[in-house]
Amino acid sequence: MGQVFVITSGKGGVGKTTVTANLGAVFSGLGKKTCLIDADIGLKNLDVVLGLENRILYTIIDVISEKVGSLEALVRHKTSRNLYLLPASQIATKEMMNPEDMEKVVAQLRPNFDIILIDSPAGIESGFRNAVVAADAAIVVTNPEYTAVSDADRVTGLLEKSKISEENIFLIVNRFRPNVAEKRGMLSIEDVTKTLAIPLIGIVPDSEAVVIGSNRGLPIAFEGNNELNKIFTNIARRMLGHKIPLQEDYKLSKPTFWRLFKTLFRS
Ligand SMILES: Nc1ncnc2c1ncn2[C@@H]1O[C@H](COP(=O)(O)OP(=O)(O)OP(=O)(O)O)[C@@H](O)[C@H]1O
Ligand SMILES: [Mg+2]
Repeated sequence: MGQVFVITSGKGGVGKTTVTANLGAVFSGLGKKTCLIDADIGLKNLDVVLGLENRILYTIIDVISEKVGSLEALVRHKTSRNLYLLPASQIATKEMMNPEDMEKVVAQLRPNFDIILIDSPAGIESGFRNAVVAADAAIVVTNPEYTAVSDADRVTGLLEKSKISEENIFLIVNRFRPNVAEKRGMLSIEDVTKTLAIPLIGIVPDSEAVVIGSNRGLPIAFEGNNELNKIFTNIARRMLGHKIPLQEDYKLSKPTFWRLFKTLFRS
């Protein structure tokens, strides 16, 4: 039976879809049969980030209306054959779906996958409730900024009241800029974790390569042997319960600094 994670945030634009796509890339690369569900009905862009927008025949709304079965609606990734997407519909609205619908869809998919990641829409209304209802665990994505952290805090409070147990709510800080944080121009990782008080499972740097990957429809984590692939792999392994020190991500966020540090240390 697959494990189901919802990727959520409160504030829009902090990187939920980016994180979902990149985690999909690494989980499938680790040999896990992975399904990504786009729960951002009406806006949808997980398909675009994955370069699959032209392959969509059916959406989650077709599954809910029983036009097709959930497996039939899946789009298989072009190169990563372990990775599947259940697309959202652009013409539908969030109100065309309710929490029971999501529970049914996830129950059908769960036996067929090792990992299911649900990309939540921004906000805390019906779309959020639909995205969260069938998940075993939640990942709250934030940027190291007051407004994002404040919204993440609100979402964490709501998650703690949901069926998801408290020890299954995790945090990812996305778009971290070590140099700016050091100059106190941005919240530090410690500031963020103190406010939110949920376990941190990843620090993703602010990186042009992430944007370029999304725009090409090929998330950066698909390309092996780069810092971002390693960071997302660390996050995926932590999600599977492995203990990997967070210092690893921090080092990878700041390779130049660490290379210099190691050189100085050695000499
Ligand atoms: N680590 C990163 N470094 C640089 N840019 C990033 C990073 N993560 C995300 N972005 C950029 O930030 C923008 C918003 O990202 P994304 O669409 O993933 O956010 P979202 O939380 O899913 O937004 P929404 O709430 O609208 O669904 C995109 O242009 C994306 O390329
Ligand atoms: Mg999104």
